Amino acid sequence: MADKVPFIRLNSGYDMPMLGLGTYNSFRPNEVGDALKVAIPTGYRHIDTAWLYKTEPEIGAAIKELIKDGKVKREELFIVTKLWDNCHEPEKVEPACRASLEALGMDYVDMYLIHFPLSFADFERTVPTVADYLDTWRAMEKLVDKGLVRSIGVSNFNKQQLERILNMDGLKYKPANNQVEITPYLAEEDLLQFSLKNGISTTAYGPFGAPGQNYIQEDAPKILEIPTIVEIGKKYGKSSAQVILRWGIQRGYAIVPKSTNPARLAENFDIFDFELSEEDMKTMLDLDRGQRVNPTILKFKDHPFYPH
Ligand SMILES: NC(=O)c1ccc[n+]([C@@H]2O[C@H](COP(=O)([O-])OP(=O)(O)OC[C@H]3O[C@@H](n4cnc5c(N)ncnc54)[C@H](OP(=O)(O)O)[C@@H]3O)[C@@H](O)[C@H]2O)c1
Repeated sequence: MADKVPFIRLNSGYDMPMLGLGTYNSFRPNEVGDALKVAIPTGYRHIDTAWLYKTEPEIGAAIKELIKDGKVKREELFIVTKLWDNCHEPEKVEPACRASLEALGMDYVDMYLIHFPLSFADFERTVPTVADYLDTWRAMEKLVDKGLVRSIGVSNFNKQQLERILNMDGLKYKPANNQVEITPYLAEEDLLQFSLKNGISTTAYGPFGAPGQNYIQEDAPKILEIPTIVEIGKKYGKSSAQVILRWGIQRGYAIVPKSTNPARLAENFDIFDFELSEEDMKTMLDLDRGQRVNPTILKFKDHPFYPH
């Protein structure tokens, strides 16, 4: 249940459960709402959404019902949502945050992230702009002071971009979190260590390489089928998905696997009764190829704020 999940104490003073539920690509009506009605009783408390995902209204409605039925209290939940790339200009930040709050039916979120360092004029990201994320950050800080969000952070930022925020004039709040792709093929050890040293927590997205999205992975096994991981799992009586999640928890970051399938929601939660040995941790790290599986960001290499 929920008390099995360890927390990360954020630099904002709040605690973030290390296992969360991803909600991207849950587009069928009631898909994510029904998933939450399984996930919350299973013990998930950290829910990851974004304006982009269009799942905020269904998540908000399901949570309202779960609270009404006494299954969970709002203060036990850790709700994360994200500012989309067409709202980086400072004057657009608070209205965007308020729109997400309205969609969720909540008066605050636990964490609000700048979804990408990249700024665009339009929702579809066809027209790049040069709205600097440092100005966006100043507007994010005001959301904390207004009580609309408890913690603020970023997503898809590299080390230099984090450093730029940490060194900016008049910084009031350091980023509490950076949410990035981390998989056995993309271990991000340098970024992780840099973040740990600077008090910035990390959340891993796409831990299984998003198998439902058919991202092309021609030159290597699909992440959940990597023989080394399957073999490690056999030693502990666990699936490769469970080994990957456990590896993340032991490396010290939060992780937000997406599932809307009741059996897989339970499987992904069942990772707190075993511990990978140091040797297996190292074997997992050795699978790193510095290779993204999620191709989304690669389309924008010419953007001035691309996280090279
Ligand atoms: N910040 C960002 O830019 C960013 C980018 C991408 C994702 N994210 C966040 O991270 C979350 C996770 O990433 P993701 O959704 O891209 O990919 P993912 O979590 O790596 O993979 C999700 C896929 O794996 C399947 N799955 C889940 N558990 C499984 C298991 N135990 N065994 C086999 N298959 C399993 C799911 O299918 P079923 O649902 O059928 O189980 C779904 O097709 C997203 O939902 C989103 O919240 C953030």
